[in-house]
Amino acid sequence: MTEIVVAILAIALALVLVSVLLPVAERLRIPHTVLLAVLGIALGVTGAWLVGETERFGLLGDFFEGLTAVGVSPAAFLYVFLPPLLFTAGLTIDVRRLFDEMSAVLLLAIVAVFVCIGVVGGVVHVVTGIDIFVCLLLGAIVSTTDPAAVIGILREVGAPKRLSILAEGEALFNDAAAIATFTILIDVLVHHIVPDAAAPGLDFLREFVGGIMLGIVLAHVALLIVTRLGGSITGLASVTVGLAYVAYILGDQYLHVSGVVAVVVAALTLATLGPTRLQPHQWEALRHTWHQLEFWANSLIFLLAAIVAVRVLAGIRWWHLATVAALYIAAFGARALVLFGLLPVLEFFGRVQPVDRRYKTMIVWGGLRGAVTVALALVAYGNDRLPQDVRDFVAIIATLFVLATLFINAPTLRPLMRFFRLNELDETDKALRDRVLLLSWASVAAQVRDVAKVYGADADIAQRLPHLEAGDAAMSSGGDIALPMDKRIAYGLRTLCARERELYLWRFGQQSISRHIATMLVVDADRLIDQVQTDGVAGYALALEQDVMLDRGFRIALWLHQTFGLERPLADRLADRFETLMVERSVIHELLDFNRADMADLLGKPVADKLHALLDERLQGIDGALKALSLQYGDYADTIRAQHLQRIAIRLESAEYDRQRGNFAISQEVYRDLQHALQERRAEAARRPPLRLGLKLTAMVERVPLFAGLAAGEVSAVGRLLRARVVLPGQKIVTRGERGDAMYFIAAGVAQVKLAMGDVELGEGAFFGEVALLEHKPRNADVVAKGVCHLLRLDARDFRRLLAARPDMRQEIESVAAQRRG
Ligand code: CMP
Repeated sequence: MTEIVVAILAIALALVLVSVLLPVAERLRIPHTVLLAVLGIALGVTGAWLVGETERFGLLGDFFEGLTAVGVSPAAFLYVFLPPLLFTAGLTIDVRRLFDEMSAVLLLAIVAVFVCIGVVGGVVHVVTGIDIFVCLLLGAIVSTTDPAAVIGILREVGAPKRLSILAEGEALFNDAAAIATFTILIDVLVHHIVPDAAAPGLDFLREFVGGIMLGIVLAHVALLIVTRLGGSITGLASVTVGLAYVAYILGDQYLHVSGVVAVVVAALTLATLGPTRLQPHQWEALRHTWHQLEFWANSLIFLLAAIVAVRVLAGIRWWHLATVAALYIAAFGARALVLFGLLPVLEFFGRVQPVDRRYKTMIVWGGLRGAVTVALALVAYGNDRLPQDVRDFVAIIATLFVLATLFINAPTLRPLMRFFRLNELDETDKALRDRVLLLSWASVAAQVRDVAKVYGADADIAQRLPHLEAGDAAMSSGGDIALPMDKRIAYGLRTLCARERELYLWRFGQQSISRHIATMLVVDADRLIDQVQTDGVAGYALALEQDVMLDRGFRIALWLHQTFGLERPLADRLADRFETLMVERSVIHELLDFNRADMADLLGKPVADKLHALLDERLQGIDGALKALSLQYGDYADTIRAQHLQRIAIRLESAEYDRQRGNFAISQEVYRDLQHALQERRAEAARRPPLRLGLKLTAMVERVPLFAGLAAGEVSAVGRLLRARVVLPGQKIVTRGERGDAMYFIAAGVAQVKLAMGDVELGEGAFFGEVALLEHKPRNADVVAKGVCHLLRLDARDFRRLLAARPDMRQEIESVAAQRRG
């Protein structure tokens, strides 16, 4: 048999073996990778024992021969298995949450990688006296982390979601940083050039930035192709597989930028843009495919590496063990240094929300090393341009270290969690559990009694189900839950937030909202859940306040509009805001019902009332915001509303067809036809019309009475002095006490002048900000946009020019200013 056939046979059988381990890992509650390592070592030992005699064992012999053939090829590790690992990590991460936590993630990932490389390299160099670059290479290899185990546990104990994002994001970027450093160090060692201090830094930067650009460009090309495939899921999967490998190889071999970074960035770009460009089911299918590929890559790397490790570890000496012990302490010490030394600095400056010490410890201890470390070690091992002793040293130490994290850290994560009591039901949970049980028993008891009547069963049936009756008795005697008020409210809020999130997802599943909108809403809901979990009612209020404030996207869009006159990003954001507010509004109405029906029973009426008040307040805020937008873009609001209804109608229609088919009233063919037609309408209804800002300068100028007397030529002359500007509800346009640099005319919308004796509203056609310019004094009041305002801004210099040229206008403005001064 040829080598390739044997290799395929080996991989096929290996896939079966690794799958069988899945339920075992689940049962034993240990990470899958630990079992893979055990199996791999067992296979490796068996393989070593069979060496030279494989012929005698037929299929089994071929299996081992194939495994060894695949295992020793470093190209396989790097080029076949690495891209799926990195691409999936980038594709499945929650990109918006990632951006929220960016400072912490970058600190943990990039800074931590360099700290780890430095500390590990230094310590190992001091302990062994081996060349510092070899030690740094080892540091780079062992500085990547595998987050799967710790994320699993964080989810299990219901830790705030941002902690999983921290761990996932860290792993994603530290892979990129570590592999890029690894490549540079290999170069240094192979070519025996000792770089000067600045060169590696510059190299690194070039590789990194180049990789980022390559990733972005290729992802856009891939999206362009994908959108022309007519919705084919198989095509989509194939293009993205192509994308991952092309990004890697093009970067690495042709353009000499970091292929790893290119893959990660390509995946992140796809994760950002994909949801809005692809159909929900396509997106799901894509993630599914990549999870599958990742599973294969991850399992096979581990298995094959463990097999090779047996051979590598044959050369093990006592001093290796001492070195690994030193490395272990150095690596985890470096990690603790970052989390307990550097992260608090960011916390202090408010760049990240504080992380509980117990969770920090979990994250430090959960820094297991996984497939990427193993793959890098084997790549170094297989590089025959490195001296043999370096290859052996690096491979032995890195492999032992991975095994140490797998056999020391992985099994102790859960006990650590127990030690911190992160797993215990706290007092709230216990009280709630009791209450929920009583409620369900009471409800079941009532139902059983009804059923008993139907069957004509004896009345004392109740005696045979004492716990149900006890529940019923407790409920009817008006018993209350044993929890203090503030805990009840906090719990109620958490439940409402979780429900809110579910309702968004449900709407998305029903295709009545787009994935893009659903993503934004779910991310906001997650943020709300996190805040409520940490700060209760105050957290809820705080999160909502942040929600009202303009987020980063809005600020960037506004800036693009003001600086370059780009309308599209701003219009898109406004359209998004419209839709999210409308959906939020309808969901809150549902929450109000839910609160009335379920929360009152569970937590008591006073709590339900308080929750009702909170929801109501929120509803009013949303209504206000919607009104502020509708004031300006009423037609658009109508269109979006109509489109929304259309989507709901389509959903109901689809459900109706399902029902008719279920009743055999229509044939499968007719059903398929109907659904097909519906799909077209669905696509039509999903196409959101563009929002027109309506910022044509001449039209805006004409709306200001002061300029009403101008002839057509003059309008454009004045127009040249003015700049159109959009301000959003609540945004401050003029700040009391500041120096005046411009005045404003309101072409559309309403602004409020905040005065001591009360607010004065200025509507379309009015102007403000003239007093400071005329009198060369600081602004005498704050002026805030009430709805969306379209303003014309006149800079101080042009103001003087205009007034000099047009005495009539000067007079008019001065007289208004005089009145205002009163
Ligand atoms: P300025 O002082 O430049 O900045 C604040 C602006 O608020 C001020 O110019 C006026 O344009 C406006 N303003 C101040 N007082 C009144 C008022 N009583 N009625 C309407 N607008 C006012």
